[in-house]
Amino acid sequence: YGDRLNSLGRDYSQASERARHAAALARVDAEKLTSGPIVGGRLMAGIAPQDVTNPFDRTQVLGHVSEASPADIDDAAERAAAAQIAWDRKGGAGRAPVLRAMADALEADLDRLVALLSREAGKTLNDGVAEVREAADFCRYYAMLAERDFGGEQPLTGPVGETNALVLHGRGVFACISPWNFPLAIFTGQIAAALAAGNAVLAKPAEQTPLIAAEAVRLYHKAGLNPDLLALVPGRGETVGATLVGHPGVDGVAFTGGTETAWAINRAIANRQGPIIPFIAETGGLNGMFVDTTALREQVIDDVILSAFGSAGQRCSALRVLYVPKDSADGLIEGLKGALAVQVVGDPADPATDIGPVIDAESRQALEAHVARLEREARVVARATLPTGANKGDLFAPTIAEIPTPDFLEREVFGPILHIHRYDPAELKTVASRLAARGYGLTLGVHSRIEAFAEEVMRLVPAGNVYVNRGITGAVVGVQPFGGEGLSGTGPKAGGPNSLIRYASEKAISVNI
Ligand code: NAD
Ligand code: ALA
Repeated sequence: YGDRLNSLGRDYSQASERARHAAALARVDAEKLTSGPIVGGRLMAGIAPQDVTNPFDRTQVLGHVSEASPADIDDAAERAAAAQIAWDRKGGAGRAPVLRAMADALEADLDRLVALLSREAGKTLNDGVAEVREAADFCRYYAMLAERDFGGEQPLTGPVGETNALVLHGRGVFACISPWNFPLAIFTGQIAAALAAGNAVLAKPAEQTPLIAAEAVRLYHKAGLNPDLLALVPGRGETVGATLVGHPGVDGVAFTGGTETAWAINRAIANRQGPIIPFIAETGGLNGMFVDTTALREQVIDDVILSAFGSAGQRCSALRVLYVPKDSADGLIEGLKGALAVQVVGDPADPATDIGPVIDAESRQALEAHVARLEREARVVARATLPTGANKGDLFAPTIAEIPTPDFLEREVFGPILHIHRYDPAELKTVASRLAARGYGLTLGVHSRIEAFAEEVMRLVPAGNVYVNRGITGAVVGVQPFGGEGLSGTGPKAGGPNSLIRYASEKAISVNI
């Protein structure tokens, strides 16, 4: 898109790269970072200070965070509204250079950001690098869209003697509320979209990942963004999040997180007095993959392991239920058991690790409770081995289970658990329809050499992103615009050509001359 391709990766087979990674980890460990409300470019005292710890080792304190107070939020909203007017007037071409500078700054700081992602969010080396690259991609892609769509008037047709044109402009101040599972990419991407469209931003990161969010905000400011245009307002969803959503100074909400939270925010927005504001929601999925007897078994195994267990299953796009034809199920399940057995579960900062911890004790306990249900009502087929020694953090043993019905899962189970259902190919329609009836629509996988099979599955199961004969995670900005439908989100897709439209207002201007 325009001036350059997607952000480049790193080659960790080189000893020099591994040494840089080790040095960055040591630096992050020594730093004891501080996060809290950042208003007008200054770190405020905030309220309710807390330690931030490492999900792999809860005895390691990484830094501290304090929550934004209602006064911090008021101050940030007032500054943002004042600064937004000039920012909007700059037009897309005036705003794009700051976003490109942010992309460059992210890449320049990659080692440190990867180290922090690993310590604070449990990201493996590969996931951390991919996340920094995705954050940079969002900035460059939205810079390009800002130039394309916010470059002045788009001429329209009309009768002789009248000129008609359409102009896009920012809505005002956006509240950007993000999850912990992409604490840099989604946090940075929501902000980049809102800024590109001419808005100012109040950014609320997830409770679990405030340190990386503060680093991202500092980088935006260092990249040349007027600090009043972007405030960090960390804190709990039910306090800071709820205050933002109801705040009269907020003109739009961009949210990524769970479906239940989206419902709560939607209700809160409905109860607001005054202007009706847009709500952009990207939520969870109950993602299936359908395999038929023509699929290549080795390829299926690779793709399933990565899609279900990569990032410890903590991707909204991750595979939750694999549907396999009953006659070939035994061989495939044996292969998956073997592949799971060689996955390395452990310290995400160790380059040899495939699967790190889950995000917190609450999540680990919910997953263990789900495994207990699987033991009672389904069949647990395999669990990966955890490293020996005390589990000082939130490592969870990745699990494969066979489920008796196609719609055994009522809702998203967010972690490294793969559910498998054996289906009778004669019953494909019923099986797929029962999954579809759960109402989600995020990712969908098909493994087959028969086009008609893939088309039928696509017709039966709603999904915003469909992947045929490959894994179902890891959408790339500008390549696989990402986002769901139904219970999985409102759109527009992130990283796609229409990403900015709901962040903007449209004005049609008719002039009779
Ligand atoms: P979550 O819904 O618990 O929290 C997300 C954010 O909402 C956090 O910042 C939280 O503090 C805030 N929040 C919570 N209650 C709020 C309220 N009442 N008002 C305002 N804000 C509130 O989600 P999570 O556990 O952080 O993230 C995991 C979820 O995110 C999963 O369901 C996953 O599928 C989803 N997700 C979706 C996408 C996507 O693009 N579709 C991407 C990543 C994650
Ligand atoms: N966009 C992320 C993926 O595709 C969530 O995995």
